Amino acid sequence: MIYFDNAATSFPKPAQVIDAVGKCLQGYAGNPGRSGHELALEAGRAVFSAREKLAQFFNIADPMQVIFTLNATDALNLALHGFLQAGDRVVTTSMEHNSVLRPLADLRQRGVTHEIVWADPRGEIALDDLRRAISKKTNLVVVNHASNVCGTVQPIREIGAMCRQLGIPFLVDASQSAGQLTIDVEQDRIDLLAAAGHKSLLGPQGTGFLYIRPGIEIAPLRQGGTGSRSEDTFQPEIMPDRYESGTLNTPGIVGLAAGLDFINQETQGKIVAHEKNLIDTLLAGLSEIDGLVLYGPRQDKGRAAVVAFGIGDLDSGEIAHLLGQKGICCRPGLHCAPLAHQSIGSFETGAVRLSPGFFNTLEEIEAAIRMCWQISRTIRTH
Ligand SMILES: Cc1ncc(COP(=O)(O)O)c(C=O)c1O
Repeated sequence: MIYFDNAATSFPKPAQVIDAVGKCLQGYAGNPGRSGHELALEAGRAVFSAREKLAQFFNIADPMQVIFTLNATDALNLALHGFLQAGDRVVTTSMEHNSVLRPLADLRQRGVTHEIVWADPRGEIALDDLRRAISKKTNLVVVNHASNVCGTVQPIREIGAMCRQLGIPFLVDASQSAGQLTIDVEQDRIDLLAAAGHKSLLGPQGTGFLYIRPGIEIAPLRQGGTGSRSEDTFQPEIMPDRYESGTLNTPGIVGLAAGLDFINQETQGKIVAHEKNLIDTLLAGLSEIDGLVLYGPRQDKGRAAVVAFGIGDLDSGEIAHLLGQKGICCRPGLHCAPLAHQSIGSFETGAVRLSPGFFNTLEEIEAAIRMCWQISRTIRTH
């Protein structure tokens, strides 16, 4: 089996992630922040340490502004539903995932309007188009950092500078980029950063987070037990309790911290260089195949470790099925991002997505290229 679906969730996880989750479950998985006994205190310390590690990784000054969520979708829903009110206007892009587009569609029914800036066929958003869409009445700009469909990266530093200059809060969906591309909330002037913990941050499923810049007012979507100020009728205002009602996923959060440790130890540079080598080899090999169409940015442009393609007029599901028969795990279809597929021209057939990760090898890439050659030959001889 060759796993090329790291853009859905990374697999395998580093041994130290598995070890950290196991040690937590076996040794100290008390309920963090709920009691004064040793297991609850140890769990609380572990959760705080994970918050600190995330803050450090993204240059977030105050770890208490990092809110643990179930996944990136949960973080994006908190940001969008918690920030926007009837009458507000949002500018976003056609490269967004449904975890942005669907909350915005729902919010439209409640009087929040949004304008979509369309990407070109390579998935790139022109800064000028974005600038033209933004007006003094815009309340929020939402941009997907790296496309989970075709890997195209948007220039968030330039967009952040533009938003800050205009005084408009900037929400970045870093689900596909966190762990792969450098993100610095200060230099990139990000006000809200949402990401999955289970993709390139190498944590377990059931993890994600939202960073909220101090001063950005987000209404909590859930109320309930926080272990703090139990005598109060209303949700405590203190961070992060304001947004973290209910028992946290302590083992998952501990695993996410171990994922960050792994990245820091291996170094992000080494991980990215390995993945780039895999992607460059894959792109070079696929680009030789007759009838194969590659989507995404030009080869000389930076990209996330995602490659999308089609072969002839085959449905992407059929190609993925053929690859699956040879043991290659990939993802066909629209990848929860229908407008991104409309932008790059693959909406009708969908695209096959191969997303290698740090644990893949060049031999596995060569095997995938050979399989694609075989599929292309088969359809040409029929
Ligand atoms: C760009 C993007 N945004 C949001 C999400 C949603 O992430 P999650 O499954 O963690 O909710 C994904 C999922 O892969 C994604 O690629």
